[in-house]
Amino acid sequence: MTNSLSEKSGTPIAEAISLKVHYRTANSGSMGRAAAPVVRAVDGVDLAIAEGETVALVGESGCGKSTLGRALLRLEEATEGVVRGAGKDLTVLSETLLRPLRRSMQMVFQDPFSSLNPRMKIEETLSEPLLVHGLATRREAKGRVAEILDVVGLDPRVAQRYPHEFSGGQRQRIAIARAVIARPKFVVADEPISALDISVQAQILDLFEDLKGRFALTYLFISHDLAVVRHIADTVAVMYLGRIVEQGSPDDVFGNPLHPYTQALLDAVPVPDPERERHRAITRLSGELPSPASVFVGCRFQSRCPHATDYCRANDPALSPVAAGGHAVACFLHTGNADFRHSKQA
Ligand SMILES: Nc1ncnc2c1ncn2[C@@H]1O[C@H](COP(=O)(O)OP(=O)(O)O)[C@@H](O)[C@H]1O
Ligand SMILES: [Mg+2]
Repeated sequence: MTNSLSEKSGTPIAEAISLKVHYRTANSGSMGRAAAPVVRAVDGVDLAIAEGETVALVGESGCGKSTLGRALLRLEEATEGVVRGAGKDLTVLSETLLRPLRRSMQMVFQDPFSSLNPRMKIEETLSEPLLVHGLATRREAKGRVAEILDVVGLDPRVAQRYPHEFSGGQRQRIAIARAVIARPKFVVADEPISALDISVQAQILDLFEDLKGRFALTYLFISHDLAVVRHIADTVAVMYLGRIVEQGSPDDVFGNPLHPYTQALLDAVPVPDPERERHRAITRLSGELPSPASVFVGCRFQSRCPHATDYCRANDPALSPVAAGGHAVACFLHTGNADFRHSKQA
């Protein structure tokens, strides 16, 4: 199976190829007992993010979204597979060779309270990326800080204040300003509005949209909230237990969800119309998310899937195109062969 799941042109800004990120847990039996359980946080992901695209990565907590986002920026080492950034294989670069690339790849975190240094004035925090990468003198940095504060909707005079003087939404604006001040190409936003009051979430989403146009950014936007990504994503990737199980345009994924997991996720989102809400068929997710430390044989959704057959318990479905335009799914219901169809009747 190739990983050209969608017909995007040009070199991807960021790309994972057969990527695995496994964590060895700390209680690794120094007494020589059983081998450490391995947490398979990312366990075979192919994802290509084209320049200018917003890819939304969705899925339940613990399915590996943050790990994948961090691995794409090489903040996490790949256990297997390749991460490419702007056409370069990042997995083989030393930290020294990575440093000049770091400017072009930035991250915005969920929690604007812990992501800013409480002892640094906003001006210091925002100058840092420019000074670290030698992009400005201290004097020039002051001017750049004032500019970027204006761009993110804050009064440039706040540069002299400390993080505790700001609300959650304002702090997230500052964290976003820090991420974009050195003019990156690719930004991973990891649940950037989840910790904010509902009333400011839409404003921060608008800011992301505005910055994307202004600075020609490419986003990986991580969210467990499907309603949020519908409006900002060009491509939606649904993750389950370390794998992407469905991928496509928002119209594909929301309008024609094919994977039973995607269907269950969507069914969990309340419908605004009370009449429809009462009658909609709910395929609730039964059971717990299995531990990513388990060893999987067959499809990893089998334990919660209403359609699983013996075939699904023995065979691992690859993410495969189901239509032109990039809609892809990892489910034998849609990509299955004769053996699968036979197993349904068994
Ligand atoms: N540094 C780490 N060491 C060990 N396990 C980790 C580490 N970071 C994440 N994990 C585990 O990897 C899995 C995926 O985590 P994460 O990528 O944070 O998922 P998500 O962002 O979707 O909630 C979880 O089971 C989590 O507990
Ligand atoms: Mg996370």
